[in-house]
Amino acid sequence: MAIRLGDIAPDFTADSTAGRISFHSFLGDSWGVLFSHPKDFTPVCTTELGTVATLEPEWKRRNVKVVGLSVDPIEDHHAWAGDIEDVTGSALNFPLVADPDRTVANLYDMIHPNANDTLTVRSVFVINPDKKVALTLTYPAATGRNFDELLRVIDSLQRTAKHKVATPANWTPGDDVIVVPSVSDEQATALFGSFEKLKPYLRKTADPVG
Ligand code: BEZ
Repeated sequence: MAIRLGDIAPDFTADSTAGRISFHSFLGDSWGVLFSHPKDFTPVCTTELGTVATLEPEWKRRNVKVVGLSVDPIEDHHAWAGDIEDVTGSALNFPLVADPDRTVANLYDMIHPNANDTLTVRSVFVINPDKKVALTLTYPAATGRNFDELLRVIDSLQRTAKHKVATPANWTPGDDVIVVPSVSDEQATALFGSFEKLKPYLRKTADPVG
């Protein structure tokens, strides 16, 4: 069955380029990103894996641990890692899970048979520190993901988890945020100091972070 927002992310133990990992204990108290790619030694995937490696300081700054996955064997992952570094200048610095028997791919419903009956699609799961799924994304094989957008979404998820706010369309960090409707005007004043009331249900206040 498909994984839904709020579900506990299924745990698994698997071989990876960083050795054997147990997913939940690897994540510990961090946020997590689990993302699949269709196949090693393919062009779009090479650019994606290098981009994720290049973004290491951004994941760290947000307390996010990243795990990649495909159904290729571990020997292929190790052999491909050199190409990723050659092409993108970034060595793999996160575990890339080998899932040749598709155990994890099936747990996370990463194979969409009407797209391809053997390869994983480009799935993304953002997992919060309670191990609950906070966001899912699915891209087709031919479209590389925008990892800056993933960082932007994580910035929103982390704010909305901690503060009584939501983020509007096209929000980026530093933009005003929305006071959630369950907060009264009196509570909003106490929490945020000031806010702008555009409609009774639409109140904006300064980004509570930084
Ligand atoms: C790629 O990474 O370029 C790719 C992988 C599978 C199918 C199509 C493209």
